[in-house]
Amino acid sequence: MISSRLISKLRTAESVAVFTGAGISAESGVPTFRGSDGIWKKFKPEELANFDSFMRNPELVWEWYKHRKTIIASIQPNPGHTALAEMEQRFRRFAVITQNIDNLHRRAGSKTVYELHGNIERNYCTGCGKFFADAGIMAGPEVPRCTSCGSIIRPDVVWFGELLPAVVWDKSVKAAEGAGIFLSIGTSGVVYPAASLPLIAKRAGAYVVEINLERTDLSDTADEVILGRSGEILPQLVPYCPQKPA
Ligand code: OAD
Ligand code: ZN
Repeated sequence: MISSRLISKLRTAESVAVFTGAGISAESGVPTFRGSDGIWKKFKPEELANFDSFMRNPELVWEWYKHRKTIIASIQPNPGHTALAEMEQRFRRFAVITQNIDNLHRRAGSKTVYELHGNIERNYCTGCGKFFADAGIMAGPEVPRCTSCGSIIRPDVVWFGELLPAVVWDKSVKAAEGAGIFLSIGTSGVVYPAASLPLIAKRAGAYVVEINLERTDLSDTADEVILGRSGEILPQLVPYCPQKPA
């Protein structure tokens, strides 16, 4: 059930910013980080997701990332991703700001996507920064090395202790500040600075809506909390969005 307040906001909004986390991809079969079968229950982040341990043990980290690449390549965007791609067509300004690295927003058709934590389908050289496609990486040796300088190649994802990509962050803050409606979807909202975006939006006057299976630290601040699966709720919002311009 969508509230009449949100329906009227959707009908008149010019600018929408959407902030997504692992929960939006859960219905596609990507495990979340902190749920009962979350990834961090099985692996210690300090062992797998930081640069020093990568350089100490690139075999282990690459084994894990190749495993994740294989899983992510085999799954599909779900109706939540597709609904956001459809909504983008209906508003003057629309941005998806995602903490996910799974590339499912782009695969669903979203165009303006700010990837705060990188993209698992990209890789780059730790020595010279050159980018490498997945195909060669997956078919090549256990630990891939740069064809130009011989340094180790790493996945283009943000690890613990690393800064977010500055340009992406700046665009995300601008989108949050300029949003009439801000949707926070499927994120526990505990990893900063990403988790500050809903608060930035709220302070700038956005109508903040949280969509999650359960309440989070953001719930008390949000103007509205919709409890449920994003793959079921987001398609229900689409009919209330303005019509596609002719
Ligand atoms: P979490 O695993 O912390 O949170 C996932 C959230 O999604 C939880 O609040 C769930 O209740 C909710 N959820 C699960 N299934 C859902 C569904 N079908 N519909 C709606 N909500 C659902 O994942 P994130 O908040 O994305 O960072 O985690 C943030 C960051 O922590 C990640 O980007 C990653 C990790 O450390 C880096 O790798 C840098
Ligand atoms: Zn190189």
